[in-house]
Amino acid sequence: MAVIARVKALWSVFLCLSSLLLFINFSGTIWGKLNITTISVPSRQQEHRNLSDPVLERRDRRLTRAENFLTSESSVTQRNDTCTDPVTNFVFIKVHKTASASTAVVLLRFAYKNHMTMCYPRISKGIAGFSLTFPSTEIYKSNCSRSQVFGDHFNFLVHHTVFNKTAMDRVMKPGTKYIGIMREPQSHIRSWFFYNRHHSRIYKNKGRKNPLGEYLDNPEYFEKLASQRKRRQETNDRNRQAFIMGFPPHLLNTQDTGTIDTAIWQLHHQYTFVIISEYYEESLVMLRRKLCWDMSDILHSTKKIHEQHNPKRYIPLTDKQLGNHKRINAVDYRMYDFFNRTFWKSVEEETGRGFWEEVTYFRSLVERVNTYCLAPKKREPLKVPTSKWSNPFSVDETFCKHLNQAPKDLARNLFYQMTRRDKIWKKPSLNVASK
Ligand SMILES: *[C@@H]1O[C@H](CO)[C@@H](O)[C@H](O)[C@H]1NC(C)=O
Ligand SMILES: *[C@@H]1O[C@H](CO)[C@@H](O)[C@H](O)[C@H]1NC(C)=O
Ligand SMILES: *[C@@H]1O[C@H](CO)[C@@H](O)[C@H](O)[C@H]1NC(C)=O
Ligand SMILES: *[C@@H]1O[C@H](CO)[C@@H](O)[C@H](O)[C@H]1NC(C)=O
Ligand SMILES: *[C@@H]1O[C@H](CO)[C@@H](O)[C@H](O)[C@H]1NC(C)=O
Ligand SMILES: *[C@@H]1O[C@H](CO)[C@@H](O)[C@H](O)[C@H]1NC(C)=O
Ligand SMILES: *[C@@H]1O[C@H](CO)[C@@H](O)[C@H](O)[C@H]1NC(C)=O
Repeated sequence: MAVIARVKALWSVFLCLSSLLLFINFSGTIWGKLNITTISVPSRQQEHRNLSDPVLERRDRRLTRAENFLTSESSVTQRNDTCTDPVTNFVFIKVHKTASASTAVVLLRFAYKNHMTMCYPRISKGIAGFSLTFPSTEIYKSNCSRSQVFGDHFNFLVHHTVFNKTAMDRVMKPGTKYIGIMREPQSHIRSWFFYNRHHSRIYKNKGRKNPLGEYLDNPEYFEKLASQRKRRQETNDRNRQAFIMGFPPHLLNTQDTGTIDTAIWQLHHQYTFVIISEYYEESLVMLRRKLCWDMSDILHSTKKIHEQHNPKRYIPLTDKQLGNHKRINAVDYRMYDFFNRTFWKSVEEETGRGFWEEVTYFRSLVERVNTYCLAPKKREPLKVPTSKWSNPFSVDETFCKHLNQAPKDLARNLFYQMTRRDKIWKKPSLNVASK
């Protein structure tokens, strides 16, 4: 008997060791494929590492000054892109609280300009929010409004869904590209937790001094309370970004990094590009390059949509709270890390092709255009000359209206355009976006 027990014990030790070895080798190859060792992120980005959320947000809003951008580029007479075929068939996976509303505005403007056909929520649903099928992991053509005018061949989708390529490919025209977005998880929970008084409803912690800290001190306790109160939300708060980005739901609770990495690796092949909120303008420039767009297409408003002012969200987390957050959101952290690395890898590839020069120009252009658009009295239209990355264009009152419109209004206008009901821009609700 003793011998058998000893053999059994030895066997399990052997199994453990070999699976450990296999795992190390496996995860090594996954991360190795990215080959990110040589990336050197410019110092402006490195500073981000240890900045608190409010500092980050202030910094995000503060735009680099560059007064002379018009003169410095005026010698260029032609765009110098190698691509000629802009992508006009894509889905945006809108992850809540990641700057996704600002991005939706940019994409909706592009879709409008290019007369794209959007999967718009069924009118009968009442379209209260910006939701399409969320939190369902399935989507069907019947979920989109259809009309005899435009049929059901969609080449644009921007409302809230959960990514599922198989299901979405059946709804969209062939060759659709997928664009995602992710935000650093700690910064994301600060924003998500206080969004729309979400958690005071779910966890009944209204009026507490530090609701986020208390929740993270003992998340299991609060989750249990919430489920007892039957205030269980449509989806768990855990690994929320990963879930929306299409990480297999049945693997969301795994702690096994090998399994997580394999799933992330498979998912990343299905995305053409994933925007990283922390590097928003760099991401837009990269998006422009990947989709072969003009720089005027990625201009965005510097006003924040859904800005929150709750000071409680900035209370620092203790090590224990942060540890708990990392533990219950292991997939989000790993996935963010992966897509952030992937992003910087692509920056490295584009650096030799004038990426940073373009980012600098883009920042100054964003500042110029927003300054112009925020001025109460518009003078002459702002004429932007040809640059290496854009054809000449002019910024006028109409351009500013579109730049600052609420996603919902823009979506409705695009839908009117699709159905050829000519109500386009008749009722521009300027500035609805920023309360
Ligand atoms: C480790 O990975 C390499 C290549 O990916 C493979 O050739 C090798 O057999 C693996 N080693 C073990 C112990 O699994
Ligand atoms: C990683 O990149 C460096 C430099 O870009 C290159 O020399 C090296 O061979 C690459 N390694 C792998 C495994 O691709
Ligand atoms: C981050 O900042 C905190 C306090 O501001 C400091 O205690 C900590 O050492 C810093 N961490 C790093 C990695 O610099
Ligand atoms: C234009 O692009 C070509 C190759 O893509 C490059 O050789 C050339 O230097 C670029 N010109 C400018 C002005 O950047
Ligand atoms: C989407 O369509 C399916 C099948 O028609 C339906 O069962 C489901 O309720 C729809 N979802 C929404 C949010 O309308
Ligand atoms: C994704 O969609 C396909 C096709 O509708 C379906 O078979 C699959 O179960 C969906 N995935 C999830 C996680 O629901
Ligand atoms: C994103 O990745 C870069 C390069 O690996 C790294 O320097 C930076 O700290 C990362 N950003 C965040 C917010 O983790």
